[in-house]
Amino acid sequence: MPQELSLPVPDDFHIHLRQGQDLASYAKSAEQQFGRILVMPNTEPPVNSAESVKKYKAEILAAAPSLKVLLTFKLNKNYTEQELLEMRKNGAIAAKYYPLGVTTNSQDGVSQIEDMYPTIELMEKLDLVLCLHGEEPGVFCLDREKKFLKHLEKLIRIFPKLRIVLEHVSSAEAVERVKSLPQNVAATVTVHHFILTLDDIVGDSLRPQNFCKPIPKLPKDKEVLRAAVFSGNNKFFLGTDSAPHALEKKECLCGAAGIYSAPVAIPILIEEFEKENELALLPNFIAGFGADFYKIPRQNKKVTYIKKEWQVPKIIDGAVPLRAGEVLKWDRK
Ligand code: DOR
Ligand code: ZN
Repeated sequence: MPQELSLPVPDDFHIHLRQGQDLASYAKSAEQQFGRILVMPNTEPPVNSAESVKKYKAEILAAAPSLKVLLTFKLNKNYTEQELLEMRKNGAIAAKYYPLGVTTNSQDGVSQIEDMYPTIELMEKLDLVLCLHGEEPGVFCLDREKKFLKHLEKLIRIFPKLRIVLEHVSSAEAVERVKSLPQNVAATVTVHHFILTLDDIVGDSLRPQNFCKPIPKLPKDKEVLRAAVFSGNNKFFLGTDSAPHALEKKECLCGAAGIYSAPVAIPILIEEFEKENELALLPNFIAGFGADFYKIPRQNKKVTYIKKEWQVPKIIDGAVPLRAGEVLKWDRK
């Protein structure tokens, strides 16, 4: 078993850095783990114009100057081709679709995906990527992703050239669907869906730090997801969906969904891939397939991890991280 591991500097193709006072600490913590990140737009106010894309990127870079920052903007039906081009010029490479009310700051989300088709048609023409929060609102929580898949199928039928990422894929049905659709449909995989099931939220005790959307599901779902990754399928790549919320926002009457995983994501993945004897697959999963899908160059910088136990702090940047208080086996050198 190796004691040192040299890896390509990871990309995170799905991260939340928030806004205002919190932004700097979350951006710095991302900078310690990743070389390049794709930042989600569900901030307050949202990222939904060329101006806001530019401003958000500048704010992130001011806090974390060594990060390569890629942006998303919230999908809505009002964009013109000119605006989409302007957003791209300012650093956006994808639009994020949020159904109404399914997750944090989605009160302005979409109720009819068909209303978005004119914008999506432009995106297909401009080769902008569509990132989907693939959950159907108003359905039993464990079925939301499964019930969304009909929209994914319809999208790819109507827009056959559109590149689509089904974000934070969490159910066996969605994994299988992504596998069976053409190469321009991929999925991000989070560290938490890779290791957690519903049991880790409500099994023995209530663990709000593991509550997120989509909800981690049954053992079978987790196994199917892991099998897809461990098959080396290039449609599945890392997007942590690291989504910090201050402790008091998660542990209250109406707790926020989101798991703060950025500080522990890579050490956990190394441990999991090592357990399965699949460390050789890790470089492509964390720093290859995603870049290829987004048609951006792979990064060639390296980072070394060493086998050294460390205890995850109970709180980081005011938020409870994934695996808080537990001992991890790998650390950055
Ligand atoms: O659990 C989640 N938290 N899922 C999401 O899709 C959004 C995220 C957040 O922004 O807090
Ligand atoms: Zn997210």
